[in-house]
Amino acid sequence: MTRILITGGSSGIGLALTRRALARGWEVSLVSLDAAEINAAQEALKADFPDAQIDALCVDLTEADALERVLKWVKKSAAPDILVNNAGIGVYGASSQLDPAREQAMIALNVAALHAMTRAFLPLMEKSGGVIVNIASNSAFQPVPLMAVYAATKAFVRHYTLALATELKEAGSNVRALCVCPAAVKDTPFLNTAGMEGLRTFVSFTSMTADEVARDIMRGLDRKKRFIVSGAKMRAVYLLTKLAPSALVQAIVRREVERV
Ligand SMILES: NC(=O)c1ccc[n+]([C@@H]2O[C@H](COP(=O)([O-])OP(=O)(O)OC[C@H]3O[C@@H](n4cnc5c(N)ncnc54)[C@H](OP(=O)(O)O)[C@@H]3O)[C@@H](O)[C@H]2O)c1
Repeated sequence: MTRILITGGSSGIGLALTRRALARGWEVSLVSLDAAEINAAQEALKADFPDAQIDALCVDLTEADALERVLKWVKKSAAPDILVNNAGIGVYGASSQLDPAREQAMIALNVAALHAMTRAFLPLMEKSGGVIVNIASNSAFQPVPLMAVYAATKAFVRHYTLALATELKEAGSNVRALCVCPAAVKDTPFLNTAGMEGLRTFVSFTSMTADEVARDIMRGLDRKKRFIVSGAKMRAVYLLTKLAPSALVQAIVRREVERV
């Protein structure tokens, strides 16, 4: 039986992935922030998958004792075969105008917690083997004005995960790493949390649903990929961003994050 642990699994992309994992008969462990959100997700999932094994832990991954709590909880069962570091938040606005505490909270979750979880789970998963899936973003492809720090956190996730994947392969590790870059996902609470309602990018031709991202993550796992750009249209845009001059790419991206 495959065991998958998904941070931020009670909402959005994480919840869509949870549904796909349960449909495959996998055991799912969820880690999320809000107890009411977790309870609601568990109830809905139990209704659709009555025989499913769904464990959940409510924890703020940015708190000092978060990792210790997660590890204590995981040790009651066994290490997962797949860890998905999906929990993440965005903050929209000019960096010089934003409250630095909001940006630092985002760095704590998107970068520090993801790194801490990855480092802690690697040795636990080494014996039986597994995959660490880190969720980056299309924002990781280039600097994004008005989402400067968010895009930088996702660039970290992308670079870190790809380098880790190479290191693990060279070391003959039983653990693989997979970096996922979804395009803008229009049907999750992420936009409201980030203050990003009405941005052009979320109605653009590349935007996707959470379930489409979850489908691509499953395909990436099945095909033992180390990097996936989620969405065929986003893959075409990604190739163009590699060819076009950086200033031009930033100008286009700046327009994409304009409110319409
Ligand atoms: N939506 C997009 O356009 C988009 C595009 C590319 C990449 N992504 C990335 O995809 C991932 C998931 O995003 P989403 O759109 O599915 O957003 P979402 O629906 O808002 O999900 C975020 C999840 O993270 C959890 N979370 C937030 N803060 C936390 C904390 N301090 N400790 C523990 N859990 C915390 C939330 O828990 P609660 O629900 O309990 O608060 C929620 O389950 C993020 O990493 C995001 O950066 C999103």
